[in-house]
Amino acid sequence: MLVAAGSKSSTASAAAAGGAALAIMPPTADHHQQLLHHLHDDQLANDVATMESSWSWSWSSPFAVQEPPVGEEAAAERQAEVGRLLAGFRRHLGERTALHLGYPYNLQEQESLSSTPELAAFQGLCINNLGDPFVESNYGVHSRPLEVAVLDWFARLWGLRRDAYWGYVTACGTEGNLHGLLLGRELLPDGAVMYASADSHYSVFKAARMYRVRCVEVGTLVSGEMDCDDFRSKLMQNTANPAIVNVNIGTTVKGAVDDLDSIISTLQECGFRGRFYIHCDGALAGLMVPFIKQEAPKLLTFEKPIGSVSVSGHKFLGCPVPCGVVITRREHAAALATDVVEYLSSRDATIMGSRNGHAPLFLWHALCTKGRRGIREEVPEERALPRAPVAARVPGRHRARRRHAQRRARQDRRLCGGPCCAAERMVPRRS
Ligand SMILES: Cc1ncc(COP(=O)(O)O)c(C=O)c1O
Repeated sequence: MLVAAGSKSSTASAAAAGGAALAIMPPTADHHQQLLHHLHDDQLANDVATMESSWSWSWSSPFAVQEPPVGEEAAAERQAEVGRLLAGFRRHLGERTALHLGYPYNLQEQESLSSTPELAAFQGLCINNLGDPFVESNYGVHSRPLEVAVLDWFARLWGLRRDAYWGYVTACGTEGNLHGLLLGRELLPDGAVMYASADSHYSVFKAARMYRVRCVEVGTLVSGEMDCDDFRSKLMQNTANPAIVNVNIGTTVKGAVDDLDSIISTLQECGFRGRFYIHCDGALAGLMVPFIKQEAPKLLTFEKPIGSVSVSGHKFLGCPVPCGVVITRREHAAALATDVVEYLSSRDATIMGSRNGHAPLFLWHALCTKGRRGIREEVPEERALPRAPVAARVPGRHRARRRHAQRRARQDRRLCGGPCCAAERMVPRRS
């Protein structure tokens, strides 16, 4: 049975590989027999056989983990093969990177950061920033001083003083969303409803499922921006429940930036003053928006009643490992922080336990090297970014704003040649 299953999957994989660069050498049925022989355990052999028939991919992959052979010569040959597999895989990823399309990663920066010798020198170290970045822990191999420097920089960018913020370097933008939205739930524990536009990243809906918070999907305009009229009507259906709102600062597909000011005024007009929490998902453009034009620093700022902002570090900033940053108000952070965990000698205030200590090194290096000036130069011209058609989102009763919006819409049509192009521009102008 083993032989039949093994040979079948090997053939399938060879056919599927069809000359792909990675199809180095699918293991044969003999490999499996050899492995089972080494296990010397009938029950285990049966388990492995069952697993093999249900998960043939693993067995047919050249990367299936095999027990190292016992003999010295065979073990050395296997090690050489492992080296060849890794070298081939490195070539494969290099080719995939060169042909990369569709994900907004800064490949130029990625290459420069990964080839910086001072950064490469950290590679053999297990740098772990577990715990609260602002509390010294028992684990000595950490990069907290650089992490805090990075956090200071982002907090300042988004308008929070050093003593007024808390945050940490996350595993990715998703973790920032999970943290920000969890803060919302903890601060508004009594039946809060989460609102997120239909164009929000899937991690936002995942957070709602994980935290068992009812999530109401809000419609979007053609630009991908949240439709504030729909938001208003959804809010009015739940006036008894506090609101947790996910605001997009760059949606995944269209790069749309929600109109934070309109969202806040809609909340206030609907009677939610003091009963809402806003998390800004800036995974894509949270770092770009403040640099887009002169007035843009005001677009995303803690001077407004927002609770948290998250951003990815491997997108615009080009870190060669997935990472991100989340910043919140210092007083909010207490909602999640536990007492000191004895073996860490730090507080458990983050979603993850162990945290990648290499990421802050990359982020810190990128920020020190580029500086605000360098980042400003790399941010695309406002004209080239999608911008929402203001006319569609201004409530009809605000006549002055509507006139302004109509003027803008006329300009828009001149700029892009038709309403169909509105989605190609990103940042809503402040009216
Ligand atoms: C708008 C938005 N939010 C969140 C994320 C998740 O970010 P990450 O991939 O860093 O987890 C993405 C990823 O593309 C995104 O586009």
